[in-house]
Amino acid sequence: MTATAYIGLMSGTSMDGIDAVLVSFPEDRIHIHTTFSLPYSDTLRQRVSRASLNHATPDELGELDHELGDLFAEAATGVLDKSDFDAGEVAAIGSHGQTIRHQPWGAMPFSMQIGDPNRIAERTGITTVADFRRRDMAAGGQGAPLVPAFHQAYFASRQESRCIVNFGGIANITWLPKDKPDQAVGFDTGPGNALIDAWCLDQTGRPYDEDGHWARTGTVNEALLEDMLSDAYFRRKPPKSTGKERFNQAWIETVVARHPELPAHDIQCTLVELTVRSLVMQLPATENLKLFICGGGARNRFLMERLREALPLVDVETTAVLGLDPQWVESVAFGWLAKRTLEQRPGNLPAVTGARGARILGAIHHG
Ligand SMILES: Nc1ncnc2c1ncn2[C@@H]1O[C@H](COP(=O)(O)OP(=O)(O)O)[C@@H](O)[C@H]1O
Ligand SMILES: [Mg+2]
Repeated sequence: MTATAYIGLMSGTSMDGIDAVLVSFPEDRIHIHTTFSLPYSDTLRQRVSRASLNHATPDELGELDHELGDLFAEAATGVLDKSDFDAGEVAAIGSHGQTIRHQPWGAMPFSMQIGDPNRIAERTGITTVADFRRRDMAAGGQGAPLVPAFHQAYFASRQESRCIVNFGGIANITWLPKDKPDQAVGFDTGPGNALIDAWCLDQTGRPYDEDGHWARTGTVNEALLEDMLSDAYFRRKPPKSTGKERFNQAWIETVVARHPELPAHDIQCTLVELTVRSLVMQLPATENLKLFICGGGARNRFLMERLREALPLVDVETTAVLGLDPQWVESVAFGWLAKRTLEQRPGNLPAVTGARGARILGAIHHG
């Protein structure tokens, strides 16, 4: 029997844990067989977070790379064990890795994902594709976002123009105009959950604000919001991508220091509004806009409510109406990117990342 299934492994800038899917791509469709999530412990999240803020020694980084490699392997095994597939039926694992740092600008741009794929291949026996971003960067691109190629392949429509919005730690959009369904536009709009999570953790000790309950008790402070929206990133033209090295707790503290004595829950509410407004101001100026939300932010009810309020004339759904549960879009995308690599087909969209051309992405670690 030929191996036709793929495992996609994703852990994003939220550093909340690993999302794993076992998925097949029959003809033009997506068939998810099983899903599995492996949350990070609080201490692991803290260590990853410290490393991402430049506070890890080479030893600590090497050990994290090893440990995360084992954890990604565990997630792959976990999703496989839930299914009636065996390892021989899986063509490849696509592992995004854990981003430690993403610095797409400057004299020496780089993007660093860890979670040793050699260990994943060794422990599962399954061919593992990883390190997807750096070939695009070597070709002059941002190395991000990479999911627009997947969005274009499966979500583009000739009947309606669609905008796919992923609220991970960072938010990214993919615009799929119906008259040019193969010419996606995509970029990171800025913070998704990153700042909402950071302030919640700092003020309450909880890693995220469930359903946006706490934010809901506050009110938006317009002066603070305007100040936050003056960050140059929001006005920068694509291609562009960003990360937690920019939008983090220190960023919040710098802005908040200019607005003393605001109640903490008003700041939380304003951070939700920042995610909404920074997205809205960067949406394509077009009629009949239709938004499909994915990522963990789709589960923040207050965030979704604010977004719908900010866009009264726009249809705001989740990707569930397109047949893909919002939680698994990114991990499915990395399974699909692994498939592209094995087929020696490109995984990047040069118009999105700014690369000189289409490139076959990733490194293959044979099973
Ligand atoms: N019930 C919920 N209420 C509010 N926020 C949630 C909820 N579930 C998930 N989230 C948010 O989603 C984030 C995880 O989203 P995810 O798509 O995994 O992001 P990433 O790709 O950055 O890891 C959490 O950190 C949290 O901010
Ligand atoms: Mg996550």
